[in-house]
Amino acid sequence: MEEVKRCGLMRRERYNATDEVRLKTRLDPLLSRRMFCGRMCRATREGLGCLKMHSWIAVLLAGYLAWGQAPAAGPPRRIILDTDPGIDDAMAVLLALRSRELKVEAITTVAGNVPVELGTENARKLADLAGRSDVIIAKGASRPLQRMLSTAEAIHGENGLGGVALPPPRIGLDKRHAVEVIHDLVEAHPGQITLVPVGPLTNIAMALLQYPELAGKVREIILMGGSVGAGNATPAAEANIYHDAEAARVVFESGIPILMVDLTACAQARLTRADAARLRESADPVAQFVAAIAEPYLKFAERFGPGGAAIHDALAVGIAIDPLIAKTVKRVHVDIETRGEFTYGATVTNQGLTTERTERRGDRYTIVDFPKVPANAGYPSVVDGERFVRLFLGRMQGN
Ligand code: BDR
Ligand code: CA
Repeated sequence: MEEVKRCGLMRRERYNATDEVRLKTRLDPLLSRRMFCGRMCRATREGLGCLKMHSWIAVLLAGYLAWGQAPAAGPPRRIILDTDPGIDDAMAVLLALRSRELKVEAITTVAGNVPVELGTENARKLADLAGRSDVIIAKGASRPLQRMLSTAEAIHGENGLGGVALPPPRIGLDKRHAVEVIHDLVEAHPGQITLVPVGPLTNIAMALLQYPELAGKVREIILMGGSVGAGNATPAAEANIYHDAEAARVVFESGIPILMVDLTACAQARLTRADAARLRESADPVAQFVAAIAEPYLKFAERFGPGGAAIHDALAVGIAIDPLIAKTVKRVHVDIETRGEFTYGATVTNQGLTTERTERRGDRYTIVDFPKVPANAGYPSVVDGERFVRLFLGRMQGN
């Protein structure tokens, strides 16, 4: 009962966008409670106006069917790209800004690969490079919901762009916090916004916790994160989920249809040295920049073996542009591990969509049933890597 009241409080007391710290102070006790998932489901249900489960499944299925079809020549998909630039983030930003299939409503930034101040500066520089002074750029969360920030300069370089310099940013920064921008855009275009988070999910979770009704108004989430196989931050966890697992849990329990572009999908779409060489030969400054930032990124990837580098974040954007890149989408249920000593941040994926139900029989439990588990996400189990790389190289060269 108390939990329901707290959710009500969350909805009534809208937070001041500039006061991230105050918001987090309010969220922390909620997040640390044991009944966290139940509460989120309830909050989401209320936000959805008690949308019935079967309607939810219909929405999810419609989303997956759409992912399996040829790119429609309809209006561009409205996206908010939430990012922590980052080398592959930079590639994702440039791909999105150069693709007419997408209407980039905003680029929101989050702390992850680098601190949010630097990531925001990078996002602004990238928008300048793409000649897109029209795009909204808003700074978001400066640290994960509950944990201390951990950054990845060892992979992305001290400046987040592999040490490659860009001119100081000219494009302005939106005055609103990223959470407010997400809220305002989703409210302005209910049912039309695709969120494309390619960093830790802090901003998205904060938006959903602060405005639970948003869950019913977001069209879908195409995120880069998670792994149905091994992790990269730890043996169990992929970096974006690992760096804010509490936030990821909020997002995966939100009821929004999710396409999880995970590490196993990304491994099927690699940029090679030959691809980078083609970009270097181009006269296009974007292509040359991408070739330059690809160099340290490829070098890092080659530590783990030949065959090029998975440009993770760009793949999520690529699928938003051309859904046929995801040749097969498997419907699954994903739970986010937030307590495991060795498994914190794992995307625990139920592929069979069933579980065992046991009952006590004397001194033991025994299986009595195999109930179905509803899907809350899909992942691209088969990716057309060639199609993606062709699209990416073309767009970087201005085609
Ligand atoms: C993800 O982690 C970050 O380092 C990359 O930018 C990408 O979003 C890959 O695990
Ligand atoms: Ca990223």
